[in-house]
Amino acid sequence: MKLGIIGTGWIAKQFVQAALKTEKYELTAVYSRNLETAQKFSSDFTESTVEHFNELTEFFHSDAFDVVYIASPNSLHYAQAMAALKAEKNVIVEKPIATNPKEMENLIAELRLHPKNYLFEAARHYHQPNFKAITTEIQGMEVIQGATLTYEKYSSRYDAYLAGEKPNVFTTDFAGGALEDLGVYLVYDALAWFGVPDSVIYEATKLNSGVDGSGIAILKYPQFNVTLQIGKTANSYLPGEIYGLKETLVMDNAADLNIVYVADENGNKDVISRLVDANPLYEEAQAFAEVLENPDDLESRDNADRWLAMAVEVNKVLYKLRHYAKITFPNDVIMDKD
Ligand SMILES: NC(=O)c1ccc[n+]([C@@H]2O[C@H](COP(=O)([O-])OP(=O)(O)OC[C@H]3O[C@@H](n4cnc5c(N)ncnc54)[C@H](OP(=O)(O)O)[C@@H]3O)[C@@H](O)[C@H]2O)c1
Repeated sequence: MKLGIIGTGWIAKQFVQAALKTEKYELTAVYSRNLETAQKFSSDFTESTVEHFNELTEFFHSDAFDVVYIASPNSLHYAQAMAALKAEKNVIVEKPIATNPKEMENLIAELRLHPKNYLFEAARHYHQPNFKAITTEIQGMEVIQGATLTYEKYSSRYDAYLAGEKPNVFTTDFAGGALEDLGVYLVYDALAWFGVPDSVIYEATKLNSGVDGSGIAILKYPQFNVTLQIGKTANSYLPGEIYGLKETLVMDNAADLNIVYVADENGNKDVISRLVDANPLYEEAQAFAEVLENPDDLESRDNADRWLAMAVEVNKVLYKLRHYAKITFPNDVIMDKD
């Protein structure tokens, strides 16, 4: 498959490395605001022909690629994914695929106009074996009494923010903040493992820029609560825990999922899963390739529909959490339009 890239940051590099490792994609097109950046990006990967673009319309209307991976700042995902769908491309969008339910609804409506095309949210851990091992383990638990899930990492951009700069991820203009960045993983965890919550609250610690530097979310279920601790201004080393009756399902980190074990009532550990590939994007690249290589198979359509249905629910919960904390983005004006 011919792969095009939007956004030339480190995550796009990691995705291309993962995609090439599957041996199912070739890098054929790169868009950057700056042609030299695009050329530099592709030179790290291949000697073969890659087309470079610094004009988005030209990029989308070229035949240089048939699947695009979008790794631009969050607020740009919607418009870029929409343009890609209109150009009949298959689309992989970094999380979050969209920043509010109306954007999500519009993207899905556009996708339905292109029944041969696929739209994926790149939520890396959702496709990893460790995630699936936890899902299976939970299905076998007789009682669930709640969970505490943490993803809190000092951002490589926070020093710049503290120095008075405006890194995209710490601005509302680019739909940044802890929830829309790291929180996405934890909302995926909760929804995939426990379903859609009855109600949610989000106590955010806001920065002067208006985004949440960190926060605590509570997702309320009929029989228990799930607490999410999210942050980009400090480091947490707390493991994630899911509480059964006497047993506890533990993961070293609720988004990285390097190692997962069950602890019995005496604290004895039984490891049930470990990270398989060192590149955390490998499994998603592989999963999307399997669908795209067999686009007419019922199984492909079922899988892609299921993943997208999950992305829709995650998008709704993220929006409710953000709404609770009164964090608004310029893109939200679309919510008031028909
Ligand atoms: N899956 C993961 O593990 C993971 C990890 C990190 C990030 N992400 C996701 O990846 C996406 C990108 O994150 P990031 O931290 O790499 O973002 P970023 O550094 O702010 O921007 C990514 C790229 O977008 C382009 N860009 C930057 N500012 C722009 C602007 N004002 N207008 C248009 N294009 C702009 C740049 O590419 P050019 O200069 O070439 O145009 C830049 O390299 C986010 O959605 C994030 O959630 C995912």
